[in-house]
Amino acid sequence: MIVIKRVVFYLLMAWCSVAAQAVYAQQTAVNIIPQPDHIADNGQTFTFKPSTAILLNGMPVNNLHFFNSYLKQVANLRLKVYNRAALNPNQIRLRLDNKFDLPAEGYHLKVTVDSIVIIAGSRSGLFYGLQTLVQATRYKGKKLSVPGIEIKDKPRFSYRGMHLDVSRHMFPVNAIKKWIDLLALYKINTFHWHLTDDQGWRIEIKSMPRLQTVAAYRNETLIGHKKEVPHQFDGKRYGGYYTQQEARDIVQYAKDRHITVVPEIEMPGHATAALAAYPALGCTGGPYATATYWGVFNDVYCAGNEQTFSFLEKVLDEVVEIFPSEYIHIGGDECPKDRWKACPKCQQRMKELQLGNEHELQSYFIKRISNYLAGKKRRIIGWDEILEGGLTPGATVMSWTGEEGGIKAAQQQHDVIMTPEKYVYLDYYQSLHPTEPVAAGGYTPLKKIYSYEPVPAVLNSQESNFIKGVQANVWTEYMPTVIKAEYMMFPRLLALAEMAWSAKEERSYPKFVNKVRSQLPLLKQFGIKAADNFDEITDTVEISAGGLPMLKLRSTLPGASIHYTTNGTAVTSGSEVYTSPVNIKNTAKVNASLFLNGKRVQRNYQKSFTIHKAVGKPVTLQSVPSGGSYNPGNTNILVNGLFGTDRYNDNQWLGLSGQDFLAVIDLGAVQAVRQIGTHFLNYHWQKMWAPQKVVYAVSTDGKSYRQVFEQSHFTGNGILTIGTSIPSARARYIKITATNQGIIPAGEYGAGGKAWLLVDEFIVN
Ligand code: ACM
Ligand code: ZN
Repeated sequence: MIVIKRVVFYLLMAWCSVAAQAVYAQQTAVNIIPQPDHIADNGQTFTFKPSTAILLNGMPVNNLHFFNSYLKQVANLRLKVYNRAALNPNQIRLRLDNKFDLPAEGYHLKVTVDSIVIIAGSRSGLFYGLQTLVQATRYKGKKLSVPGIEIKDKPRFSYRGMHLDVSRHMFPVNAIKKWIDLLALYKINTFHWHLTDDQGWRIEIKSMPRLQTVAAYRNETLIGHKKEVPHQFDGKRYGGYYTQQEARDIVQYAKDRHITVVPEIEMPGHATAALAAYPALGCTGGPYATATYWGVFNDVYCAGNEQTFSFLEKVLDEVVEIFPSEYIHIGGDECPKDRWKACPKCQQRMKELQLGNEHELQSYFIKRISNYLAGKKRRIIGWDEILEGGLTPGATVMSWTGEEGGIKAAQQQHDVIMTPEKYVYLDYYQSLHPTEPVAAGGYTPLKKIYSYEPVPAVLNSQESNFIKGVQANVWTEYMPTVIKAEYMMFPRLLALAEMAWSAKEERSYPKFVNKVRSQLPLLKQFGIKAADNFDEITDTVEISAGGLPMLKLRSTLPGASIHYTTNGTAVTSGSEVYTSPVNIKNTAKVNASLFLNGKRVQRNYQKSFTIHKAVGKPVTLQSVPSGGSYNPGNTNILVNGLFGTDRYNDNQWLGLSGQDFLAVIDLGAVQAVRQIGTHFLNYHWQKMWAPQKVVYAVSTDGKSYRQVFEQSHFTGNGILTIGTSIPSARARYIKITATNQGIIPAGEYGAGGKAWLLVDEFIVN
């Protein structure tokens, strides 16, 4: 069935390719992603002929499948293959030779009128030379050609990865193979396959049949975003798993494309599905059910039970037989310690080993598994929480919560893969447009992922050498289909590819985004409908010297113009052209559209401003907002006339983790005040809690305040408007106090951790 689908796919692609290439061929420059180290043009052109041959010089023909299927698809060409030199004037010659002294995976490519020569010191180098060639070919007038280029190229990082979660949603083997093709095309060499999690176990383990019959399935799946309550479910059983045969097939397919598959078997947390199958492995003994919604779950493998280790060892025995990678990913993230604290077996283990706390118990767990795998000549890699309680010798750290874990690990001379969620998580939104399909939260547009620099500036040069690479992660809670997953992956994965391969000084976003535009048809040829909204209108709002919101609009699309209206009317090509920042004087709905050659392109932009007495006025905060997503860097967002949205990723919310909020607004002069209001975000499933108490107070001198409002109970999910009309007061200063929920109570998501208090816009009338 899969074979038939693939044939149909290629036939379809061949049929579409002429049209696609016509667009692609309009590009004059050679646009290679990732940007090669050195590229020059010699003015010649190599044209493929039916007689064109490729001289493999010992490179396994398996490594040629990708290139060949591409030529077949685009131009119905099949290269003649020679293994020894044969006289043929129209040749592609691969030569394994380190005469250019390039590092592993580096290559030299020279295209002239009668030959294409790729020279590399390794087979992977030859392969990457061919991948560059795929991107450089043009199909026009039934002729396939390559411009005369000379490239010397090598990767910056040895580990260039993409992760894929198949627990939350599964994807067919042929989709995974297609994505592996794309990874190869963009010189990514590692496929991190996240095979187990709370919502489903996806790899066949023959000695543990209940992993197939129980852990591989969940009864139903959450509908919509987890922040929306009450949670709703689809009522449909969901699941399945990859057989060992399928996994081996994927491993081989990847190997033929110089990609290593690193399997991840999660432990000690994210284990609900496994516990559902084998409840004796949990601290309480269950019963457990495979999770049907997203989050972090308290039930984890019992660290005091020997059965846990014999189970995991049996699993790993089979895993290492399927996956030849040196690395085995053992997870290690988000393991709550609640059950261990209450479990006699776990506590007994801690006593016996004289462990000071549950973090050290986790460290023991990871060390024990690491030792087991070391006996099989494998190394472990784990998420940054494996630092807690002490890092296992030889472990590689995948730094996801931020860069701190990676920095610490590098300073301790451990290898590090950088994968900070704020920059390289592809489940985050790529656009703030209200019609953007639901995503995990956060905001990582193409430009932001491209801007990421994997080597933190605080590391010295010796420590920097421990940063082995960078990876983009595809968590699939909100990606139920292949189409949605591809929309989230592409083109952002291309940014990751360039960051991972290209020299730092070769990277330029304007050049990159031009290349991305020119590669959309190539992606389409591979059956990928990439997001093409990276050029849509984005904005920033500042406070002008006159104290008004000042709206700046921009687009990265060359030659395009932005037209706009500020009175809520629809934009046409006759509407005012945006040339400089717009001062927003009155409450207004701004509409804007992007036009290229008189034609509307991209989605329309819309933003509503509410002008009130506090707009543009100075705000003094008593506590500094917590780092990360909810620290806008200044207090302007609280008084810029813009209201934060329920997507909470719009940089309009100011957030405090566990801290109270106290702010004073100075209206500049004593005046009548009749209304005071503020917005809070109440999403317990995002660890965002309404305040315990809100107090508003007014003052004429900034010294003595009179309380005008107090409220202590708040209901409703989402944005809460806490406002009041007050008996006519005269005031210059307004003080807003909001008490943080503090610690998230038991039984709630994230219990025991700090609650976020998210605040936006003080509205004064
Ligand atoms: C992770 O994103 N929980 C590693
Ligand atoms: Zn236990």
